[in-house]
Amino acid sequence: MGNCVGTPDSPNLVHKEYTIKDLRNGSMGITYKQAPQINTTSTYSYKRIDFDEYPDGKILEEPNLRVFSFAELKNATVNFKPDAILGEGGFGRVYKGWVDESTLSPSKAGVGIVVAVKKLNPESMQGLDEWKNEVDFLGRLLHPNLVRLLGYCLEANELLLVYEFMAKGSLENHLFKRGSSSTYQQFSWERRLKIAIGAARGLTFLHTSEKQIIYRDFKASNILLDSDFNAKLSDFGLAKVGPTGEKSHVTTRVMGTFGYAAPEYVATGHLYVKSDVYGFGVVLLELMTSLRALDTSRPSGQHNLVDFARPILTDRRKLARLIDPRLEGQYPFKGAWLAAQLTLRCIANEPRNRPSMLEVVEALEEIKSIKMTPKEDDSPQNGGQNSKSNGFHRGRVCGPGTPLRDCLYGQIVRKIYKILFVVCFYYMEYYSFSLGVCIYMHACL
Ligand SMILES: Nc1ncnc2c1ncn2[C@@H]1O[C@H](COP(=O)(O)OP(=O)(O)OP(=O)(O)O)[C@@H](O)[C@H]1O
Ligand SMILES: [Mg+2]
Repeated sequence: MGNCVGTPDSPNLVHKEYTIKDLRNGSMGITYKQAPQINTTSTYSYKRIDFDEYPDGKILEEPNLRVFSFAELKNATVNFKPDAILGEGGFGRVYKGWVDESTLSPSKAGVGIVVAVKKLNPESMQGLDEWKNEVDFLGRLLHPNLVRLLGYCLEANELLLVYEFMAKGSLENHLFKRGSSSTYQQFSWERRLKIAIGAARGLTFLHTSEKQIIYRDFKASNILLDSDFNAKLSDFGLAKVGPTGEKSHVTTRVMGTFGYAAPEYVATGHLYVKSDVYGFGVVLLELMTSLRALDTSRPSGQHNLVDFARPILTDRRKLARLIDPRLEGQYPFKGAWLAAQLTLRCIANEPRNRPSMLEVVEALEEIKSIKMTPKEDDSPQNGGQNSKSNGFHRGRVCGPGTPLRDCLYGQIVRKIYKILFVVCFYYMEYYSFSLGVCIYMHACL
């Protein structure tokens, strides 16, 4: 596997630096001289479906999709104008567009409903196979926690997908994009749990369907949020039908994202339904800590979140330091502890030791019902029981409510204190020694 885990700087990586895709059959730099052949796809038709009829989800016999012409999507997005860009991923750019609610024909901005239009970048390395997979899987899946694919366009050089619009964007943007607080809000403990439960329900639906579906690309950027912060899974480009008969896994080439892919899958290409559970555990950890699964800008030894967090999750005394300091201690410690234990089970090295997604949903529901104790509730913002120290978040830029010791500035001040202490201690004079002790005590607070 030329571009597997372990070499995050590999030139073969797709899109963001940590995405791993095996591209042996891929489509790097594809330009289509003629429309790719997708046997039955062009015969798909779209019928408006009332979502509320299927609260537990449904798998349709065949994709229910509207076929758009390129001109229609050009119209809907006002010629793919730059200020309609919602984001960009490995497939290409995603634009905001407007269509009529019942016919899905393009309409003027402000009229009808908003849709998200994903346009394949001809230079994209993620290509036709994933595009087809998305159409075949997502076009047939209906569930409140899966993003709805409404249609597609397949014309000469152009491949596009049209989705329901998710007003709050991706979970990744909220957890990790800093400095744009007006766009990306800080999440409370309750909201983080709501998102985790929604995403877990989406995975449960896939895993418990007649032919088990393995999602294979569970990560914060693929969890989209609607206007009420309901979580929905997007991007089924890597989804795969699970093992049949007595088999426990399917063997496939390794594709996915560094930091989220399960160890057994990365090592052997054996993909289990429980490989998705590992990815879920990583996202649960990200939700608790607001630390990325993989971040080479963290101090050495902390690049891989799972590796460095695993021992802390078992330590009651250290756990509070790992939790996102922006929560300002506003969470029940018992809930955080149970969430940590659940995370540990999800990221177990052996797939069989991981819980099913159904168990995960139940456990999360229970955690959500746990409220803060009066003692925790009374704790002042930064002095509370749950926010004693946030040592693993040091180096962050200070923001409202961030304890000083977590900030870069705070770290520098602490260093100066320590140097002063050493100098005082060195001379060992009574007064300077006691002054040094005072300074050191202050620095430790
Ligand atoms: N249905 C949607 N509604 C609103 N915004 C969307 C929608 N789909 C995608 N976006 C926005 O576009 C961005 C890019 O999405 P995309 O799925 O193409 O890439 P990604 O998930 O970030 O990366 P990758 O290619 O590795 O999956 C998302 O982060 C999100 O902000
Ligand atoms: Mg995505």
